[in-house]
Amino acid sequence: MDAAPIGVVGTGYVGLVSAVCFAHLGHDVVCMDVDEAKIARLESGEVPIYEPGLEKLVADNASRLSFTTSYDVLLERCHVLFIAVDTPPSPSGDADLSRVQFAVREIAARGGQRLLVMKSTVPVGTGEKVMADLDGMGVTDITYASNPEFLREGAAIQDFLEPDRIVIGSFREEDGTTVEALYRGIDTDIVRTSVPTAEMVKYASNAFLATKISFINEIANVCEQVGADVRTVAHGMGLDHRIGPHFLQAGIGYGGSCFPKDVQALKQLAGNTGYHFQLLNAVIEVNALQKRRVVGKLKDRLGTLRGATVALLGLTFKPNTDDLREAASIVLAGRLIHEGAKVKAYDPMLDAGEHPLFPGVAICDDSLEALEGADAAVLVTEWQEFGRLDWRVAASAMARPLLIDGRNFIDPAVAADAGLEYEGVGLGDEALAPVAR
Ligand SMILES: NC(=O)c1ccc[n+]([C@@H]2O[C@H](COP(=O)([O-])OP(=O)(O)OC[C@H]3O[C@@H](n4cnc5c(N)ncnc54)[C@H](O)[C@@H]3O)[C@@H](O)[C@H]2O)c1
Repeated sequence: MDAAPIGVVGTGYVGLVSAVCFAHLGHDVVCMDVDEAKIARLESGEVPIYEPGLEKLVADNASRLSFTTSYDVLLERCHVLFIAVDTPPSPSGDADLSRVQFAVREIAARGGQRLLVMKSTVPVGTGEKVMADLDGMGVTDITYASNPEFLREGAAIQDFLEPDRIVIGSFREEDGTTVEALYRGIDTDIVRTSVPTAEMVKYASNAFLATKISFINEIANVCEQVGADVRTVAHGMGLDHRIGPHFLQAGIGYGGSCFPKDVQALKQLAGNTGYHFQLLNAVIEVNALQKRRVVGKLKDRLGTLRGATVALLGLTFKPNTDDLREAASIVLAGRLIHEGAKVKAYDPMLDAGEHPLFPGVAICDDSLEALEGADAAVLVTEWQEFGRLDWRVAASAMARPLLIDGRNFIDPAVAADAGLEYEGVGLGDEALAPVAR
């Protein structure tokens, strides 16, 4: 089994990064995807997603990587199959497992001894259900392990190769051992456990991180009322080892393809068992309201937004990725247009013109073009280049030099020097004082 290449089903942000990193560790990897255009690009040496360092790693490991759209080709060579297809939210809030089920059926239909390793984020109980379904189909040669992925887009390669931990759940000890062996060369804690526990580690981790974000955002909102500075509050909190400094940056809320859907799915999962996960309701509600607070801040300063021009800086859900799934910018742009504002935007990953996720928004070639003549700007995504912008020039290009900094990214003192009217998140009276670090 060991000498055969690893198969990876789904070559998106997780599948492609995992495949390339396994190749980097010395394995041959067959990458399979149903998206023909994506596979054609990969076959021609192009990388279809933006992830720092990925293009080079693909090129460096080209001899160990192959790409196909065919399950037959995949199964001809591979026994260990990582499933990394998307598991988007369904209208009920449950994770939509149709792509996982499709992949499992295709694999089962072709027979042979296989070990399925679930990398996609799937609800607790999925492993047991997949095995029961296979049993019902009379398939007995397929075994199953859960190996949830924790990488962050934008830092995915480092996260995969230097993870905080590797979690492996399996029904059979030897399957867990097979999966563990594939990670040889990575020095980290390995958590070996049951399949449901591994599935839960992933959901609990994402739900906890989302809770941290909503928590600090609520602290920020109170800071605005009482004249405290959330940046220093977070710094002071984070020095406590029981709390830690990470994920305490106040802002306009979490987005992306994972936190919103995973928090919702865990809430739904608990609800399906009859348990009301109260805390997660608050986490979700706080996150939704946080985006709307930006609109409130604009209205407080501009009065009505009807006819006002607002520039959005950054549209991706976070910097260093081209991923727009569940980005805060989508809700924000929609709200502003609904309020009658004219919206211009700039993001380093998006071409100028129109984008289907941002109907009515004029996407510009650069920041200054977006800011030209604007009555206000909102910094939505903290791309480094916004830190390097000449804010004096930016301020003089705007009709009103108002900057709502949704990420507390621009130093308020720099903003004041540039002549900007500045408002961040959770910055009370101390906003213009230097931040203690
Ligand atoms: N993106 C992240 O940062 C991240 C991090 C950790 C875990 N996850 C989880 O990993 C999974 C994948 O996420 P992603 O962001 O890589 O998704 P993605 O949408 O970028 O990629 C999924 C890929 O699977 C392909 N696919 C769909 N159905 C298929 C099938 N039946 N056979 C073969 N290929 C198929 C799609 O064409 C697509 O290329 C999800 O469950 C997600 O929750 C994502």
